[in-house]
Amino acid sequence: MTFEEARALFPVLERVTYLNAGTFGPLARPTVDVMLEQAQCDLDAGRSGKTYIDEMVEHRRKVRGAIADLLRADPQRISLTGSTTDGCNTVLLGLGLDPDDEIVTTDAEHFGLAGPVFSSGAIVRVARVQSLGPEETLEAIVAEVTPKTRLLAVSHVIWSNGVVLDVHALKERTGLPVLVDGAQSVGAIDVDVGAIDYYTVSGQKWLCGPESTGALYVADPDALRVARPSFFAQQSFEPGGRYLPRESAERFDPGWISVAALRGFAAALACAPDWRFERIADAAAGCRETLAARVRVITPPGQAGLVTFEVEGDPADVVSQLLAENVVVRYIPRTPWLRASCGWWTSDEDVERLVAAL
Ligand SMILES: Cc1ncc(COP(=O)(O)O)c(C=O)c1O
Repeated sequence: MTFEEARALFPVLERVTYLNAGTFGPLARPTVDVMLEQAQCDLDAGRSGKTYIDEMVEHRRKVRGAIADLLRADPQRISLTGSTTDGCNTVLLGLGLDPDDEIVTTDAEHFGLAGPVFSSGAIVRVARVQSLGPEETLEAIVAEVTPKTRLLAVSHVIWSNGVVLDVHALKERTGLPVLVDGAQSVGAIDVDVGAIDYYTVSGQKWLCGPESTGALYVADPDALRVARPSFFAQQSFEPGGRYLPRESAERFDPGWISVAALRGFAAALACAPDWRFERIADAAAGCRETLAARVRVITPPGQAGLVTFEVEGDPADVVSQLLAENVVVRYIPRTPWLRASCGWWTSDEDVERLVAAL
């Protein structure tokens, strides 16, 4: 697939300078085509019968396998969730921590991770990293570890400043269980879960999947309690409710996913070219350099797809003004920062349009 063919997958790019995959990736035509086809099928033929169920199970298997490939993981360790937040809740509830336990996290986490962490019942130690670079971020997190630490809960790519944390070094340095929020990494950088214990995926961002799609990698499914069993948790159950859990991480699947969403997600995953990570790195480097000639750039060089930079005036107003010029970026609350997301579909002209509109 050439770059021009890749861009042509996304009709929105014909009209809009779309630099917001960190919130929602653009939808590709093949993704929406299969979702519409499935909706029509459901409308015409109904949503039941053995064939319907068998096909749904097969679509789940395919998506699970595709996510496993993406993370270089065993499909048996992948749960299909509706979001990163879902995955974080599954882990935090399953661990069943209490005030004798500590979790180390950072002040730069999205609520999708911070919410479950602060609801866990454990004491939370917060490393201050918002204005730090990658190495200092790692050191600040390690400095919060105590003998009571039961979990490190951190993002691979920090949503606000775009910094990439070396999560593998963190695991190696501490030997502690690590929950990685992969919302801004999976699909943006090449991920290998390696020795990480828990790793979340958001389908709707860099993977350009439909809303309410995602996944959770669990290295050792037997070591995590199923705190919120859905029908997919069991391979058999007794009338009283006692059940035999499924052997794989499927036991953590939070519930039904619409067949249209499953098919759309599979189509989105299949759209991504094999050169995507190189192109994202190039696009982000170009964007950073072009912006740095005019404004203060917060994201250090050589990170992922996010480029955060400072603007004068109210950042929410600047975002609205840019939107009026068909340029889509977002602002980071409580900072003077805007964030541009550079995808494998982002062109140099997109960046020029952003700068011109600024
Ligand atoms: C780092 C990070 N974590 C979690 C989330 C929430 O993702 P989801 O909607 O998949 O739960 C986001 C969304 O922007 C994010 O940037």
